[in-house]
Formats: sequence, C-alpha cells, structure tokens
Amino acid sequence: MKILFVTSEVHPLLKTGGLADVSASLPAALQGLGEDVRLLIPGYSQVLDKLESKRTVATFGVFSGQPEVRLLSAKMPQTGVPVYVLDAPLYFCRVAGPYQYELGGDWPDNAMRFGMLSKVAAMLGSASSPIGWQADIVHCNDWQSGLAPAYLQLTQAAHAKSVMTIHNMAFQGNFDSNWLKPLDLPQSCFDMHGVEFHGQLSFLKAGLHYADRIVTVSPTYAREIQTTEMGYGLQGLLAVRNGDVSGILNGIDEDEWDPATDPHLTAHYDVGDLAPKAEGKRALQQRLGLEVNAQSPLLGVVSRLTYQKGLDMLLECLPKLLDGGAQLVVLGSGEADLEKRYLQLAERYPGRVSVTVRFDEALSHQIMAGADIFLMPSRFEPCGLNQMYGMRYGTPPVVRRTGGLADSVADASLPDGTGFVFDEADAAMLYRVIESAIGSYRDKKQFERIQLNGMRRDVGWRSSAQQYRDLYRMIV
Ligand code: ADP
Ligand code: GLC
Repeated sequence: MKILFVTSEVHPLLKTGGLADVSASLPAALQGLGEDVRLLIPGYSQVLDKLESKRTVATFGVFSGQPEVRLLSAKMPQTGVPVYVLDAPLYFCRVAGPYQYELGGDWPDNAMRFGMLSKVAAMLGSASSPIGWQADIVHCNDWQSGLAPAYLQLTQAAHAKSVMTIHNMAFQGNFDSNWLKPLDLPQSCFDMHGVEFHGQLSFLKAGLHYADRIVTVSPTYAREIQTTEMGYGLQGLLAVRNGDVSGILNGIDEDEWDPATDPHLTAHYDVGDLAPKAEGKRALQQRLGLEVNAQSPLLGVVSRLTYQKGLDMLLECLPKLLDGGAQLVVLGSGEADLEKRYLQLAERYPGRVSVTVRFDEALSHQIMAGADIFLMPSRFEPCGLNQMYGMRYGTPPVVRRTGGLADSVADASLPDGTGFVFDEADAAMLYRVIESAIGSYRDKKQFERIQLNGMRRDVGWRSSAQQYRDLYRMIV
C-alpha cells in the first residue's frame, strides 16, 4: 500500500508537541511492516535547514493567483522514511512558530498555509499526481491537513481513500468563510453537510465529514469526544459517523526513549539495574540548582503550560507538598499567566523548585530519568506521550483518569500498577494522589514494583501500527 502521511510537524525537524513524535514514529513503524509510507510536511525554515540531500521532484501551481510551489524529496534523519517537503517560502519560511508569531497570535494566513498543504496532499493522492507516485491512502493529522479529504472527494479524477486522525479536538482550524474562494472550494460545500461549522469554514469539520475513516489517539478519547462535554460541538457529526470512528492508542519510539542508551543521559539503567537512576537525579538537582538530596521526592513536569494540562490545579497544591519536603522541576512554555505563576513559585522556593520556560529536548529526557514521580493531571488528554515516557524511565506518572491516560496507566492499587490515577479534576484530589505517590516512594520495595511494572509495559508501536494497517486495508 502507498500511504501519504500528512503532518504539520515531525520530530526531529520541528516539534511543538506529541504530534511531532507520532509523525516520526508511526510512519517508521508502518515502514517496518513493509508499507510504502511517505511523509508530506511544510517547508518551514527549520525543516529546510535540517534536511540533507533534498532534490526537487516537481514545480507546480496549487491555487490560482498564487506563486508556484516546489516539492522536494528527502529522507527522514534517523529512520530513512521518505519525506516530501512543500517548499513555499512565502508561506512557511518565517521567524517564530509554525502556527503563531512571536507574541502568540495565529498567523493571519493560516487558512492559506494549511489549505495549501491539504491541497497538495490531495494532489498526491489523485490520478493527476504531479510526481508519478500516487498514494492509495492519504492519512491526515489534525486540522492542518483537514481539508485534504474534502479536496479528494471533490476531485473528478480517481483518488485515494482518506483517514483523519484527531490528535486534539480543541484545535479545529476555523476561519472566515471568505477563505472558500482563494482555497478553490465550491460554495456548495459550505453547508452543514460539508465544511461549514457555525458560519465558519472549519478544517477539522471538513476532515471529519469527508474522510473515509476517523481515528483518534486512544479508545477512551474516541468515546469522550462523542459527548457534549468533550465534543466541542462536533459530537453530533461524530455520532452520525459512529461506525467509522475508532480509537488507536499511540505508541512511543522505544529507541529514542530508552534509559539504557539515551544519549542525553550520563547514567544509564534498565529493569536489571535501577541504581544508576539515582545518579541522574543527583545530576539534575545539581544542574538546576536544587538541593542535592537523594531523599527528597523529586516531582517532574514536562508540558505545554495550558488549561488542558491541569497545571493550574497543581499550583494550588504545591505549597503544601513543597513544605512537606518535596522538590519540583518544571520544563514547559505556553500561557503567559501560567508561566509567570510557576516562575514566581521558583522564586519563592529557591533550591526546591526549578522552572525552565523554553523548549529543550535534552532536558526533557533528563527530567524523565532524574525525577522520581512524573505529574500529568490533565483535564483532558487525547493520548499523552509523557506518561509513557515516564513509565519507560521508571518514573511513575500521576495522571487523571481521562483519554489516553486512562488507557495507558494502571493504578498502583492493581497488581500490574504503573502509576497513580485520580478521577475528579480537583486540586484537593490531586493533592491526595500526589501524597499517596510520595508515600509509596518512601516504601522502596513497593515503589520499585510500580517502577518495574511501568518499565516492562509494552508502549511501543507494534500493535497500534498493525491496527492502522488493518484499517487502511479495509478501506482500500
Ligand atoms: P501534547 O502533544 O498535548 O503537548 P504529549 O504528551 O502527547 O502532549 O506530547 C508532548 C511532547 O512534547 C512530549 O514529547 C514532551 O516531551 C514534549 N514537550 C512538551 N513541552 C516540552 C518542552 N518545553 N521541552 C521539551 N519537550 C517538550
Ligand atoms: C495531541 C494531544 C496529546 C497526544 C498528541 C499525539 O497533542 O494533546 O494527548 O498525545 O496529540 O497524538
């Protein structure tokens, strides 16, 4: 099968969150199953800088009135997965983020930027593909490629089937309806049974309406988004398409995230010998200016600092935990108010709290290895990868029972427990579960059982990549 995997970010070229990790590891796993899978990504400056041996495979027009674009071909750095880069410098070579400019506002022409990505994806999936390779499956990811299924359905030519994976329903890509014309969308599709959503053009709605199959990144989230509370207004459409919706739990890249070989660590360990993990903790405390103390439970957070992640709830319970002797290390960026409140906490607790506000891949690995307990009290979490990294690094996660967290972490009260699970999105509940995690940390034998259960848990892609392959086969 020829599969085009369309994504707006991919590790290690450009990453803002878990989508980049999945876009790197799922295609590699599918390639491992013998499939001809190729990526399509925007040619951001970072991507053009990092990718070696690029060659131009086609130059063509996408929308009338717009300059021609080039399609470059290369291989992904570690995995060798073929990648097509949409080289349209006017739209993608910009300073600041892939979706937002420096002050945090969305790029005003995001509809054109990702409309173009979607259109090119559909072109590569149709009989008139400009590169002599035509995908059987166009696999879209989140709103940025949501228009591709619409373009595929609207073309007269023979075309690929499409799969739409929802990584996060909270981001929908809704734009003014004036964008229809520049994006070559006929007025007829601006309809409830089409791309229209509350009077706007919605990229995600388009994907959910036109794709042959809809997947989300965990079975629990697949159920949750069909409810009013978590469906963001799209629950009705999902209910209509219920038979086409499934949940496939993400896996992780077990080579990239392996405490036995991780190049970002100085002390390596595995299930046979956990002892060097203590050295990672000492190194982390020292590097971040925390008191070097083997006994203090070190709590870790690596996260986008947003409402989704429940880190405002965590702020409420931290003073009591810190006064009780715990330490905290935070790596993250996001909402200005949360950044400020965490930085203030670090000022209030010198030597006990370290807060780093930036994106730092190496430090994220060092926190996974050096912390004792990983905190992820998300209000909602489509899948979540960090809790899996935590388990794999012998750093049991504290998680709320929602989405992929519910599907990947077993509570410590169970014989195969790998972490600490709580139900209500409430600071008092969160405090209680962290207290109980710390209690179990103080009981070395009990804690080691949880650590080892987590390290042994299968969090790789094998079974999930097979589920995607079965799905592709079914619709082709
Ligand atoms: P989400 O995609 O919702 O942000 P996930 O848990 O699926 O959540 O994935 C987050 C990914 O981004 C993980 O690989 C995590 O390590 C990484 N990450 C988040 N914030 C940072 C940061 N400030 N520095 C380095 N890595 C980060
Ligand atoms: C999104 C979700 C996260 C998920 C990731 C990869 O960013 O917020 O839960 O793990 O996508 O699918």
